[in-house]
This record gives sequence, C-alpha cells and structure tokens, in this order.
Amino acid sequence: MPDAGTDVRATHVVLVGLMGSGKTTVGKKVAKLTGHRFVDADVEIEARTGRSVASWFEDGEAAFRGAEADLLEVLLASPEALVVGAGGGVVVTESNRRRLQEHDVTTVYLHGTPEFLASRVQAKAHRPLLGDDPLAVMAQMYEQRDRWYREVADAVVEVRPHHEAGEKPKWRIAEQVVAELVALHVVDPAAVTSPEVLR
Ligand code: S3P
Repeated sequence: MPDAGTDVRATHVVLVGLMGSGKTTVGKKVAKLTGHRFVDADVEIEARTGRSVASWFEDGEAAFRGAEADLLEVLLASPEALVVGAGGGVVVTESNRRRLQEHDVTTVYLHGTPEFLASRVQAKAHRPLLGDDPLAVMAQMYEQRDRWYREVADAVVEVRPHHEAGEKPKWRIAEQVVAELVALHVVDPAAVTSPEVLR
C-alpha cells in the first residue's frame, strides 16, 4: 500500500479480479495512459516457463499456483514500475496476498458480480477452470475470493456501470483506474496521457 503523503511515488500496479473482469485489456490501457510497461501474468508464465497455462494445470492446480507465485515475486522485484494483469486466482495463494499489500505495490480490484462476468467471459485455452458451466464456476470463485480481492485492494473499481455507460467501456474503466492511482499518489496527473490521444 502506498504512503498517504502528497508526493507521487511510483509503485507497481497490479490489477486483480475474476476472469472476464478485464484485467488484461484494461491493464494495457492503464499502462498506455501512465507510460508504464504492461505485463500479463498468464502470458509471462507461458513465455518464461515454455509451458502453457493449460499444461501447468495438467500437473494439478497446485503446480500452476506455484509457478504463478514464483512469477509474481520476480515481476514485483523489477526495479521498473510495472502494470501487471494478474491471473484471477492470484489471491488464492496466501503469500501472494501478503505481497500484494506491501508498500511497493498498488492493487486495484476490478469488481463485477459473477452473473455479469459469466455473461461476458470467454472460454480460452488459458482458462481450464471455466468448464462448461461458467456461472456456477464464477459464483463459487466469487464466494471464495471476493473478500481476498478486497483485502489486498487499495481501490475497487466497478466494471458494470462502465459497460452500461456507452462506447469504449474498457477505456472508461482504465480512466477510472488511473484516477484512483492519482488519488493514491502513485501516478502524477501531469504525466498521464490524454485518453483522446490514444483511443
Ligand atoms: C484463473 C484465471 C486465469 C488463469 C488460470 C486460473 C483463475 O487468468 O490464470 O486459468 O483461477 O481464476 P484470467 O483471470 O486472466 O483469465
């Protein structure tokens, strides 16, 4: 968690939330707006280990969670402040929850109800847990994880209102995330690129 002072102090920014909440698309936009590098945790696990997320899950969820925790540690040790799109289950591992609450990390929870997210989430190769009943899976995950996401979060952003507000919802969400980061003094408002330039 960042300091409450007025000086801007760049930290890593980690987006957390259930599958389908928009961590990757929103994270890329937050990175563009703030001039930082974006890293998608699932893509990075695959690149660094040479194994797909699905292949890790074939060895059991614990194997994947171990690789996920190792990666989080490596990413957050980077001297360069990163914007990280975490995998939805990053909070399942207790040591990750502790790490996400440390001083050099600002964590933003992209919140949506399981009903809303299940209606939007796409089955993809890196989401073997989704199965054939996404609503049931998401409801169970929400039940377990919502309190953990809130425990680690410095800010919570509701995604649904932005989807209902009109065009370019992911840009709207990214802009709200950046506004939260400015309010938390981890992003200098003078250094934020206008979204109109990027959209
Ligand atoms: C998972 C979410 C996925 C991926 C893996 C496990 C989860 O990431 O890490 O399939 O447990 O919620 P996304 O949230 O980026 O889809």
